Amino acid sequence: MNTSVRGTAAPATERDVAGAVRTLIDRLDGELRHPDLSPPLRGLAVRGVTLATGWSIDTWRERVDGWYAAAEKPGGHTDTGEWVKRLRKLRSFLATAGRESRHLDADAAADPQARALFGEEGQDVVTTAIDWLTAAGPPDTGPAAAAVVVTDLHKRYGDVTAVDGVSLTIPTGRIFGLLGPNSAGKTTLLECVEGIRTPDSGEVTVLGLRHATSARDIRTRTGIQLQQTGFYDLLTLRETLDLYASFYPRPVDVDALMTRLNIRDKAKTLVKDLSGGIHQRLSLGVALVNDPELVFLDEPTTGLDPQARRVIWDVVRTLRDDGRTVVLTTHYMDEAEQLCDTVAIMTAGRIRVQGSPAGLIARHVGDSVVELAPAAGFDAAAARALPGVRGCVTQGDRFVLRSDDPAALLRTILALPDAPVEARIRRGTLEDVFLAIAETGEPA
Ligand SMILES: Nc1ncnc2c1ncn2[C@@H]1O[C@H](COP(=O)(O)OP(=O)(O)OP(=O)(O)O)[C@@H](O)[C@H]1O
Ligand SMILES: [Mg+2]
Repeated sequence: MNTSVRGTAAPATERDVAGAVRTLIDRLDGELRHPDLSPPLRGLAVRGVTLATGWSIDTWRERVDGWYAAAEKPGGHTDTGEWVKRLRKLRSFLATAGRESRHLDADAAADPQARALFGEEGQDVVTTAIDWLTAAGPPDTGPAAAAVVVTDLHKRYGDVTAVDGVSLTIPTGRIFGLLGPNSAGKTTLLECVEGIRTPDSGEVTVLGLRHATSARDIRTRTGIQLQQTGFYDLLTLRETLDLYASFYPRPVDVDALMTRLNIRDKAKTLVKDLSGGIHQRLSLGVALVNDPELVFLDEPTTGLDPQARRVIWDVVRTLRDDGRTVVLTTHYMDEAEQLCDTVAIMTAGRIRVQGSPAGLIARHVGDSVVELAPAAGFDAAAARALPGVRGCVTQGDRFVLRSDDPAALLRTILALPDAPVEARIRRGTLEDVFLAIAETGEPA
């Protein structure tokens, strides 16, 4: 990984650099959100950032995480709040950047255009900023920065062990995704953390507080969307939100909340007459009505149409960009890959792997895999026996093969006497990681 910085950083006062980085981030933000900007151009902008700095998107992600933690540290920079906001914005942009930039990999013409978008000026600004910010000290990832800390948590229902010794730290200001097959224990774990279920053993702290002694404080500062929620059938959507808002000392503006969730036109509809998707958005609204610092969302997008899912993604990203922490569960791996800063995959009550989606893909699957629809008689054992194969996962009628050299493996496969029905190289995904872990219950 190239972590050297090109260009020479001119000595500058902190304020000059801060201003310059602000300008750059504002520009990026403007470019990336512009309604006229087509997806390829957005990708170009992303590519421009990597070219202008000589850093890969992954390096950027790591560095921004470091700056962010340093800026957040008490006694850090003078205008910490402002910095943290900007770094969050940049980090959120970088979270989706990898995926977008991949689309451009094959497009040789992209580079000159990208260079034109982010030329010398961006390079100098970012270089100086990096020098200044990296001098701010090592990132602080200690318990003070954690929104949730779980230690050795166990929960059984009769003979069923739902959570079997989970330890977990969820940092503040991130989107954390809890993934796993049905019955893995996700909802049980969340409910123990939320304080609505009592664990058999283990410790939970939320925002540095314990449920036993600070239940009311935790309830005021957190928001909960349950996997299934019942509301009063004969209240309207708006009356429901007003009712929940009345429980809290500092509720948000209910009209603004309905606008954010795109449900304002249903304000006067009775709960019993709401469609499933709007009911789902109402329950998210209820979770946000107290303006929480930490939000738990149990499958917030299940059953939603593709457009509605994106509304929820925007809401979740905005929460994170505002410095809040979101803990969610989802069965949509594409959603987790795009939305979450960190994911943990749980099977049978235990967390098997944890990390950034990109990191997990790189570690457990590889950037590229070979996917093949085998010819009759070619089984998983034969696939595993091929030279260079480091793992094989069955996905329906297909095998997904992991290898250090996918191109060589594909050539070997195509030269087999019984050629496969179909074979191709494709990107590794979080779904591959998930399926590999769900199949074996162990890291792939
Ligand atoms: N109230 C309960 N009483 C008895 N068993 C329960 C209860 N709640 C959950 N379980 C069991 O505990 C295990 C974990 O369930 P949990 O709901 O936590 O899983 P999950 O990962 O959220 O699954 P899903 O993806 O289907 O929502 C399952 O075997 C489930 O049947
Ligand atoms: Mg569940």
